[in-house]
Amino acid sequence: MSRRKNWRVLSLLLCLLMAVALLHRCSVSRDRPRPRLIPRILHQVGESELVFAEYSFAIESCRRLNPNWTYILWRDKDAELLIKEFFPDFYRTQYAKYTNRLKKSDSIRYIILYLFGGLYADLDVECMKPFSPDLDEEACFLDQENPAQSHIFWNKERSAMNSVMGCRPGHPFMLDLVSRMAESPSNQAVMLSTGPLMLTKALDEWTAQGSQRDWADSVRLMDPDIFSPHVDNADILMDACRKRFGQPANDGELWVDRGCRDLQFGGLKDNFTERTVAVHWFMHLGWYSLKEREHIQRINISRLVPGVRFYREHHAQLKQLIKATPPALGNNKIKDADEAEQ
Ligand SMILES: *[C@@H]1O[C@H](CO)[C@@H](O)[C@H](O)[C@H]1NC(C)=O
Ligand SMILES: *[C@@H]1O[C@H](CO)[C@@H](O)[C@H](O)[C@H]1NC(C)=O
Ligand SMILES: *[C@@H]1O[C@H](CO)[C@@H](O)[C@H](O)[C@H]1NC(C)=O
Repeated sequence: MSRRKNWRVLSLLLCLLMAVALLHRCSVSRDRPRPRLIPRILHQVGESELVFAEYSFAIESCRRLNPNWTYILWRDKDAELLIKEFFPDFYRTQYAKYTNRLKKSDSIRYIILYLFGGLYADLDVECMKPFSPDLDEEACFLDQENPAQSHIFWNKERSAMNSVMGCRPGHPFMLDLVSRMAESPSNQAVMLSTGPLMLTKALDEWTAQGSQRDWADSVRLMDPDIFSPHVDNADILMDACRKRFGQPANDGELWVDRGCRDLQFGGLKDNFTERTVAVHWFMHLGWYSLKEREHIQRINISRLVPGVRFYREHHAQLKQLIKATPPALGNNKIKDADEAEQ
């Protein structure tokens, strides 16, 4: 064989080898699970460290099933400190002026998930199994309301909820939510300014613009059976139907709305499945008036979660868990956020 021919065979072999190696690499990387981006931090929000005793079973269940997770309770004074530090403009123009407790409670959730990442859950969320490994491969996820309920309450096919959310730190969607809150007029209703209607609208727009978006910047609306297998109290749903369609004139008359009609026929059904990770029980204790709240039995969170962390008391330690810092919230907010990510 000539030297030249030898060389050609050799290079052909080399090419083949490289092709095989490349193919193998591709198939391996496709099969490999995605890296876990969401840190193991469970955030909950309460006025003070004295939480309603009725929540105890739920708080304890999440602690018991996720013993390795850092647990942070965000009291009003912790939330204030963090927002002043990292979103001073938002603090001054919005947060400090919120008279509605729910607006305060909603807004801190998006801010902590942006800065720290982790998982947020309402205090009336009971855990059914550990968060890991089921949620390990998500970059960001939101709870979805039981669809019958969304239909009745909002006349929508689906609605996102902020009762359970998880996100990697620095996710631009969370920053987008803060921008939306910053722009909302002060007299706007809580659902539209900080709550589920704002969240759902933001998600719809995020999804619509998302065709060329990276997986790490995606947001997933979880199927309702993951966190919301339970349907809210039927009285509230009946009231919502009456408000929208009026009282049926007689027993035979049916509401036209699909969800309301189901309600007339024996009520809506819960949908627990083997995929259910946690249950949002809709206890609505946060809706009590100030006067009523005084009489509710409370328990010190330290008794339920011995390792609980507070931003005020464990400031230096918790600051190290902050993995993202916000770009200044000026004009062109969404664009700024995208640039900050690059
Ligand atoms: C807690 O974490 C350790 C190591 O980080 C691991 O070995 C252990 O299985 C974890 N326990 C639970 C209950 O997840
Ligand atoms: C219950 O959840 C599963 C999984 O999301 C879904 O396929 C099914 O349609 C749901 N059933 C009802 C009655 O809503
Ligand atoms: C809650 O318990 C902790 C730890 O025992 C204690 O330091 C704190 O003062 C208690 N808070 C209240 C409001 O009683």
